[in-house]
Amino acid sequence: MDDERISVTELTTERLPEVVDLCRRGLDLTEDAAEADAIVDTVYRRARVDRPVVGLLAVRGTTPVGVLVCSLPERPDPPGAAYGCVDLVVVAPQERRRGVGRTLLAHAERWLAGRGAREVLLAGNPPYYAWPGIDVRYTPAVCAALALGYHQDRTAWNMTADLSYDGSPALRSTAEAERRLAAAGVTVRRAEPGDLPALTAFARDTFGGTWDGELVGSVGRTGAGCEVAWRDGAVVGFAAWGSSRPSWFGPMGTAPAAAGSGIGGVLLRRCLRSQRDAGIVRAQIGWVGPVPFYAGSAGARIERVFLLHRKDISPTGTQTGQEPE
Ligand SMILES: CC(C)(COP(=O)(O)OP(=O)(O)OC[C@H]1O[C@@H](n2cnc3c(N)ncnc32)[C@H](O)[C@@H]1OP(=O)(O)O)[C@@H](O)C(=O)NCCC(=O)NCCS
Repeated sequence: MDDERISVTELTTERLPEVVDLCRRGLDLTEDAAEADAIVDTVYRRARVDRPVVGLLAVRGTTPVGVLVCSLPERPDPPGAAYGCVDLVVVAPQERRRGVGRTLLAHAERWLAGRGAREVLLAGNPPYYAWPGIDVRYTPAVCAALALGYHQDRTAWNMTADLSYDGSPALRSTAEAERRLAAAGVTVRRAEPGDLPALTAFARDTFGGTWDGELVGSVGRTGAGCEVAWRDGAVVGFAAWGSSRPSWFGPMGTAPAAAGSGIGGVLLRRCLRSQRDAGIVRAQIGWVGPVPFYAGSAGARIERVFLLHRKDISPTGTQTGQEPE
């Protein structure tokens, strides 16, 4: 079996259960392995509706030994930038250090270059992403990235809100704050699919970026949700969870004119309570953001740290570490 050569084929939806199984075994952090299903669903199946995505499956004989998913951004940041992103790469534990990761990345770089990318980012490609970058605890992945010619770029972090016990600051009641907001003409409720046009327009007009896409992934989906604040029939704030992964919170935003009135804390804790009701004991506030706000409103602490990487693949760029086909 071991003698059979590795080959790379394009992933098809029929093979997704095998890929989920591979991710359950190959994502070394248990919090990621536990959400393998949602991760694969988000970065491959759902993302494909909105942007160019390819899944690459490394097989030995017919057995999957590695998977990579990469994509082009729907709305590049900054606009016009020509880059592609690696959304997921996992090699089966018993197949590591045999060049599978190297082979998959070389294929991905060619696929992305063929669609106009001049840079490859090992970084989240919102609105469909599983991580902002490589969690520092996936140290072999950091080593592999550097060996294959990527360099470290930005840093990102998540904060963890503890939902495991009733007295947690993340689960503090919002009743009193909601009464104060109501007296000031602000009402808060769970968003319904019919709210999406107003919500997405508010997110787009107020914050830009791809938060509108994440809201579409949060409202009305099982294992996800969104809370919205209204004043005089207009949206003045929102907070969402579960768009990419059930345990992840975000994005959230309050209209600048309404900032400082306590809306954010209420929206945040209402979402965290919904996450607790869905059985989540540790919510990940993803890719933050205003650390003091989350620390103060929910007792959250910085926990996961991610290193974002990039590599120039333009014809004039340095091509270090790339394996010929
Ligand atoms: C990261 C990962 C995909 C690498 O796959 P792999 O098939 O083992 O990688 P390769 O064999 O192609 O390694 C390529 C190079 O990376 C470096 N590298 C890989 N693993 C390493 C390790 N554990 N320590 C040091 N260097 C390492 C080496 O330079 C290696 O080349 P060499 O073996 O010729 O020295 C694999 O470790 C994995 O699946 N990890 C768990 C999932 C993960 O971390 N995914 C990314 C999450 S954000």
